[in-house]
Amino acid sequence: MSNDNASSNSANPAAKLWGGRFSEATDAFVERFTASVMFDQRMALEDIRGSLAHAQMLSEVGVLSEDEYGQIADGLKAIAAEIEAGDFPWSVELEDVHMNIEARLTSRIGATGKKLHTGRSRNDQVATDIRLWLRGRIDQIAAELTRLQSGLVELAEREADTIMPGFTHLQSAQPVTFGHHLLAWNEMLTRDYERLMDCRKRVNRSPLGAAALAGTSYPIDRARTAELLGFDAPTENSLDSVSDRDFAIEFCAFASLLLTHLSRASEELVLWTSSQFDFIDLPDRFCTGSSIMPQKKNPDVPELVRGKTGRVNGHLVSLLTLMKSQPLAYNKDNQEDKEPLFDAADTALDCLRAFADMAPALKAKKENMYAAAAKGFSTATDLADYLVRKGVAFRDAHEIVGQSVSFAIEREKDLAELSLEQLQQFSDQIGEDVFDVLTLEGSVAARDHIGGTAPEQVRAACGRAKELIAAR
Ligand code: ARG
Repeated sequence: MSNDNASSNSANPAAKLWGGRFSEATDAFVERFTASVMFDQRMALEDIRGSLAHAQMLSEVGVLSEDEYGQIADGLKAIAAEIEAGDFPWSVELEDVHMNIEARLTSRIGATGKKLHTGRSRNDQVATDIRLWLRGRIDQIAAELTRLQSGLVELAEREADTIMPGFTHLQSAQPVTFGHHLLAWNEMLTRDYERLMDCRKRVNRSPLGAAALAGTSYPIDRARTAELLGFDAPTENSLDSVSDRDFAIEFCAFASLLLTHLSRASEELVLWTSSQFDFIDLPDRFCTGSSIMPQKKNPDVPELVRGKTGRVNGHLVSLLTLMKSQPLAYNKDNQEDKEPLFDAADTALDCLRAFADMAPALKAKKENMYAAAAKGFSTATDLADYLVRKGVAFRDAHEIVGQSVSFAIEREKDLAELSLEQLQQFSDQIGEDVFDVLTLEGSVAARDHIGGTAPEQVRAACGRAKELIAAR
């Protein structure tokens, strides 16, 4: 919505819903400066849902007649249809989504519309709307997270035997299986899912009825509106209800960690698609080209996800700073909660969608992964463990393997390429069976315990991960 063409209502101060005590019109800049309708109109359907529940409750407790409730409900439903069709005349002069809808209701159904706001305030109304909106987004995010995890686990199962180098310090360290690496990503996402569900519990409480800050003198039924809106229960304290934004901060903290995890996976995808690594193929539909270098295929999607992590971290800090030192109860500062929250939720959802689409399409270049794993003496630890099994103390074994590696480096060979005689110079405990442990397959298969990289363990872990996902 542009600020310039917003019109449709109110030229004089008394036309504002709160205009009674004012003697001059709001300064035109102040009007725009204090308005939130440009961004809070995306909570319009939640606002209507909240109003419907509030009006129904008011009629049930006898504050509104059934007829009044009927008129209000019909009017609100017609407005919802108008909004969905894109025909609603949003007005900056009416400040925010709440007053736009209320004014529209009165212009549509007449004086009865003015009764809707009985026993509530925009303060509890906005807190209700944000919670409803965020709950909807959380459920969409949870679904995309699950779609991504299902794709990753399936890919991990297919790649349970695929050998790649495992890294520490980005140096080739020990061979692992690609399936095992993918399941590491999945673990991060499982924790994210748990955090999201935990956050949802605190989002899903109803502040409606807290009114401006102290509650209301009408005989309202807060449990009823909570129930009508699908909240678990009403919030406990009216002052806290209108000023609490912990739930938004918690959500942003979830989103920050999620994006942190996706950025780590993104970074690996960027590395692995480079010609230096060349471990995976990312289908063209997730990449773009360069306007000057014809040979280029850039991994834009993971790069952008990596980049978007910054803005989500920023939103978390914005909200923490917004709430710092705020006295009870509602302060206009809180209008600033929406844009960071909306963008954090949108970004999390978009990045998950991109990843969920991409994950099943990743193609492992198994030969390149295998060749890279074979480089860099990645089975040196296996040789040390072999010597320990033959009775050598681990520290001595470490020394022996160090000497063997140094000998191999001088001859530009890998450990497995040295002859038995060459290896035996460093320890007479080394026998012909040493070559079994120097293979990559032997190395990964030996790590055969819960959490280990052995293909059998990866398959078992995939089974457990699938059960967890199915139980959601
Ligand atoms: N637009 C406001 C917000 O987003 C709604 C609540 C306004 N309440 C008030 N007392 N001015 O926070």
